[in-house]
Amino acid sequence: MGSRFIVLDGPDGCGKTTQARLLVNALEQAGVEVMHTHEPGGTPAGERIRQVLLDPATGELDPLTEALLFCADRAQHVSTVIKPALDQGKTVVCDRFASSTAVYQGYAGGLGFEPAQRLNDIATGGLQPDLLIVLDIDLAHARERMDEERLDRIEQYTEDFHDRVRQGFIEYARLLGERAVVLDGNRPVDEVHEEIMQIIESGWKPDPRAK
Ligand code: TYD
Repeated sequence: MGSRFIVLDGPDGCGKTTQARLLVNALEQAGVEVMHTHEPGGTPAGERIRQVLLDPATGELDPLTEALLFCADRAQHVSTVIKPALDQGKTVVCDRFASSTAVYQGYAGGLGFEPAQRLNDIATGGLQPDLLIVLDIDLAHARERMDEERLDRIEQYTEDFHDRVRQGFIEYARLLGERAVVLDGNRPVDEVHEEIMQIIESGWKPDPRAK
């Protein structure tokens, strides 16, 4: 089996990290060499960028500044972690990726999809996921999963912003066509996991990188 790049993304509190872990375990048990990573912060420098982005003490950031910081994290992550792993034939499962910048800064933050995508293209060198799994969730349900006392700088954005994030992910997945799926993340963890495994097992298309 060739290398695959799978991204899990969605609004805050959608359960993507739990699902990514379950997916990684299942793939490992099936004998797939898999690496689990995340953004922001999948590298040592990225961890520092993450702190700037998520610490409420940073204060307000212009969406362009925010996007550039997420893209700086992404450029480092792609070149030093994701690409080397894919080149070694590993499957990479990543929590959040370019989709988050397109949606949070581009769609919800007002920078616009297009400018956000241009920055993403520079940061990723054109690398795109083979499959983007978006977990859609009701805002109220998502809030229940979050610790109100310890919301990070972006989680503290208005409800309106997070509504647009939810919309933005659906719109983004639509633009991506068959390389993206939107799943109902309001359901029990096991049910969502089962659906993800069905998609991976049945829709496991030939690796576009393999010649
Ligand atoms: P994440 O690490 O998924 O949050 P947590 O670990 O708390 O579940 O993401 C941190 C926040 O950063 C989240 O609110 C989404 C936001 N974000 C963007 O706004 N743009 C981006 O490009 C990325 C990668 C994340």
